[in-house]
Formats: sequence, C-alpha cells, structure tokens
Amino acid sequence: MIDPASIRQRYLEYMRDRGHVVIGRAPLVLNDDPTTLFTSSGMQPLLPYLLGEEHPEGRRLANSQVCLRTQDIEEVGDNSHTTCFEMLGNWSLGDYFKEDQLAWFFDFLIDVVGLDPDKLYVTCFRGEESRGIAKDEAAALILQDLYRRRGIEAEIVDLKSAEEAARVGMGTGRIFYYDDAENWWSRGGGIEQTPLGDPAGGDCEFFFDFGEERHDEAKWGKPHPASDSGRFLEIGNSVFMEYQHKKEGFVPLSAKNVDFGGGLERLMAAALGEPDVFKTGLLWPLVDKLQTLTDVSYEERPEPFRVIADHMRAAAWLAADGVVPSNKEQGYVMRRLLRRAQLKAIQLGIEAPLSEELLPIVCRIYAADYPEFAQGEELADVIRKEEKAFRQRLRAGLREFGKATEGGVLDGAALFRLYDTCGFPKELSLEEAGRRGLTVEAGALAEFDRLMVEQRKRSQTAGAGEFKGGLADEDPMTVRYHTATHLMYKALKLVLGDDVIQRGSNITSERLRFDFSYGQKVNPEQIARIEAIVNEQIEADLPVSWEVMATAEALAAGVLGAFGDKYGPKVKVYSVGRAGEEPYSKEICGGPHVARTSELGEGGKRFKIIKEEACSAGVRRVKAVLAIPA
Ligand code: ALA
Repeated sequence: MIDPASIRQRYLEYMRDRGHVVIGRAPLVLNDDPTTLFTSSGMQPLLPYLLGEEHPEGRRLANSQVCLRTQDIEEVGDNSHTTCFEMLGNWSLGDYFKEDQLAWFFDFLIDVVGLDPDKLYVTCFRGEESRGIAKDEAAALILQDLYRRRGIEAEIVDLKSAEEAARVGMGTGRIFYYDDAENWWSRGGGIEQTPLGDPAGGDCEFFFDFGEERHDEAKWGKPHPASDSGRFLEIGNSVFMEYQHKKEGFVPLSAKNVDFGGGLERLMAAALGEPDVFKTGLLWPLVDKLQTLTDVSYEERPEPFRVIADHMRAAAWLAADGVVPSNKEQGYVMRRLLRRAQLKAIQLGIEAPLSEELLPIVCRIYAADYPEFAQGEELADVIRKEEKAFRQRLRAGLREFGKATEGGVLDGAALFRLYDTCGFPKELSLEEAGRRGLTVEAGALAEFDRLMVEQRKRSQTAGAGEFKGGLADEDPMTVRYHTATHLMYKALKLVLGDDVIQRGSNITSERLRFDFSYGQKVNPEQIARIEAIVNEQIEADLPVSWEVMATAEALAAGVLGAFGDKYGPKVKVYSVGRAGEEPYSKEICGGPHVARTSELGEGGKRFKIIKEEACSAGVRRVKAVLAIPA
C-alpha cells in the first residue's frame, strides 16, 4: 500500500510518464474569470483551451489544483465534505480519449495507490435521447474489459436515476448507467444547468466501497454507488467534454477533450481504507491539535472539529492567495469561514486563538509542496487580526443573540442588528438559531435583505451579489469587452503610472469592470485621457495576436499579468499592435480576443468610463462601456 502522503506526487509523475506537462495551479481567485468567486474545479482556469484555444504547454496537461466550493459550506461536518480541497487533474485537449483515460486511472488506483479492484465501482452516462446524446456504451465496454484483465466479470446495469437505484438496488452489478443528475458534468451541474457557452459531457465516476456496514438502508433505501449514505466514496471523475452548450443545443466541439478530476483527500481516504477524510494527513493534525484544547473528543462529536479544521485551512489558502476578510465577495466568504470556525470553537469551549494554534500546522502540512506557505507569518497576520476583532465581539454578540431571541423567535430586524452591530453573518445567526431550537420568523430573510439595501443606500456602497456575468457566453460583445480591458489596463498604466496592478476583472456583454491598485481617486481629467488613449487604439485598427513565451522571459520583459508569479513555465501572451512595431500592449492571457481593435468601434461605438470609485483600501474600481456617444 502506498503512503497516502505521496499520492499527489505519484499521480503527477504517473501523468508525466504518459506525456503530460505538469502545469502550476491557478490561484483561488481567478482575476479574469467573471463567472464564479473562486476556482472550484481544475478545469476552470483551462476553460478557453477546452473550447478550442491552443494551450502553450500542449495537449496533455496535469496538475493539482486547490479548489474552494462555497456551496458546500453548510455541508461541512460529515465525513467527506470540505470547502477547500486539492483536485488532482489531467486533461486531454483533443488528444487521447476514453480508452486511455479509463485505463490509466483504473491502473493508477490499483497499481500505484494499491486499491483492491474488488472494491471499485464505476458509473457511466445513460444518454439523453431527446437531445441526441447516446448512452456511453463504449465507456462501459472499456471498463468491463479492464475488470476482466483483473479477473473480475463486471456486470453492466442501467440504474436510470439515483431515486430508481435506491428503490431497486444495485444487485450484482459493478458498472452502472445513471442519468445526467449523476453522470453529466458541467460547471453548473446536469444537462439543464449547463451554462450557455460552456463545455460539458457525460462522465465516468469511480467509487470506492467502504463496506456494507456503512449503509443504513432504513435511511437511504437500497445501496448503490451514487447514494450519499457513506458506504461509497467518489474518488475520481473522467468527464468526456465533447459538447458545447449553444443556443441551438449541445453541439459537438471540434476537439474531444478529457477533463479528469479526483479529490486528493478522498483518494488518501480510500488508500487508508478510512472513509473519514478528516483522518487523512492533510487534516488530521488540525483535528488532533484541537483535541488537546478541549475536553470533548473527536469521536464523540466530530462535527465542530471538522468545521474548524476545514474552515481554518480554507482561510489559510485564501490568505496565501491574497484574499483579505471584508464585507464583499471573496472577502466576505473568508470572513464567514473564520467566524463560523470561531463560533464552533466557543461551542467546544476552546479559549485559545485558533490562528495561533492551527495556522503553523497548516503551513507545516503544505510548505514542502507549496512555497506560498513558507511565509507563514505574513499569511497568519490577516487572519490573526480578523480573529482578534471578532473574538472581542463574539461573546458580546452571543449575549445579544440571547436577548434578541428571548421570545424563542429570530426575526429579520434581529438578524440585521446582529449582523450590523455584532458582526454575525446572517448564515451564522440562522445556524445558531437552529442549534438553539428557535423559530426563524417567516420573511426574516426578506426583511434582512430590505434593511441591508436601505443601509447600503445610506452608505453609498456597491451591492454585494454582483459578481455574476459570463465571459464563457457566445456574445461577441463580451469578447470585445475583454480586448477593451487589455487596452484600458495599459492606458491606466500610461496615465496613472506603473504601480497600477490589476486586482480583479469582471466582464459581461454589457460592460467591463476592472479593479486595480491605486491610492487615490482618478480625476476627471485623467479619465478623459485614459478614454482618449483607448479610443485612439480602436481607431488605429490594430491587429491582436498571440504567441507562447517562457514565463520568466515574459515577466522580465514587462508583459502584464494578473496572477503575479503564479504561472506555469510557459504562457500565452496577447499583443495589440502591428507586426514590426513596438506593440501598444502585451498581456498574459488565455483569450479569446477580437482579431482587430476596430471591431470595438463597430457602428460608431466609443470607449467610455461610466464609473470610478473606491473598491477597498488602495484599490479603485472602474466600469466602462462601448457605446455610441449620445
Ligand atoms: N471537472 C470535473 C469535476 O470537477 C472533473 O468533477
């Protein structure tokens, strides 16, 4: 049996041996992806390449990508959910397909990780005839053959859906077909949820069986791999990304891609034969430390230990990627994680500051593989500050919570007051209400939202929840705004100086939004100059082109980039300018862009900045449009 701590490295070596280039991880906050707050799967930073752009490192890529899934915050507490996790990934950009992918992962699990093939089960997509997508019989047959080589006759069973499976059971099957709710993958979920413009496809998921005794039939119905009962754990997903969701339906992509993802902690759990991911080496040292700070034992009450360990680790990763607690967007999620961890610590009677106790351990766990954790002190600092401020308020807040809910009911006004004066995120108050068995008044959330809007109007701050959009959509306007963003970034540097650094970007088909470091207000005269420079480039009808460069060379040559030093060894660099002339701008970027800048001015449109405001300390935000002047 393999040492679970070496799985990451062994996987990357295994993929390297099979012709893959191991690329660096992307940061948790993708500055140029407007569609989500955080990197939540390994494929997300590779989106343009899965849609057909050429990747500078070639067509076989692999890495370990740290991901954060905020939709799982409430789920943390069971044996397998974490908000933050590493996803091992490999990709074929129109190169190998099902046959190699399934054989490689199957063999990896057995020959490298050392899993017993008898404990492995696989699921495939049963197709959706109404959309012209066929059952994935090819995958099932490949899998059957792989089992046969290991001396196992694998029966193929169509379970249809998870509901049906819980009713009829898995029988003696080993390879199962399910519908799109289980075996279709897109960033949005099933077929109906696939975002427009996104790549997607049917998938094959591998499950490890921890044994019948883990399944409570009274609660979960009959056992089957996709059941959430805890008997089976999904340890890898091979998505056959061969479609793009377009207005007219699911259209085959010109390249058939593979997008594989496997949760590192889950693979480690399977290697240990231990279904609790918190008992793996990436989390257990945190739980173990917490046990020394309280009289409660993990075995007796695992939930708060799991929440604290997960949330503090997630906060450490966020800090490593430069996120700072705040009231908006990524910063708000970080704040919520830290506060939730604090509340759980109080519930366990833990007095010691979590940051002091746990962050050195997180740094120790990751320092060898991720140099960003070598600078432990700095990283701990933002968390320590936030923790200190909140701890002072938390006890008072809990007293206030008691008073505000004396009648056994939590209403919208109290929810707002607890947020506003005690710093309790609404989710935390709702959770505390649940723990105390209080009633939450119907309409409390609507009332909370109304009070928030009122307060926001008063303080003139921008609304939360605006981090939506869709660069992945098909709209040429979105692509134009993407190019306009490059033109403006350079213009900002020309007018405001070289200290201007991109901090965030959000593009929709209606406008661009751009955050950058700059210590003061940009005055109207400067704005006019920035606009004029951008419009000059549009009028000049400059060609846009790209080339592959060595990262070190690109950064040394002053090519603009949004991710600091977090790039792989080679990057794609987009230039705006005529061949043989010094380009107007050069920027590291995955694309896509227009072919010529004049496309931005089509129909008499001009570039105009419609808003300039403070975003956070030392960071300004501008919004700009391409519009026909009034
Ligand atoms: N992108 C796929 C997933 O996240 C592999 O499961």
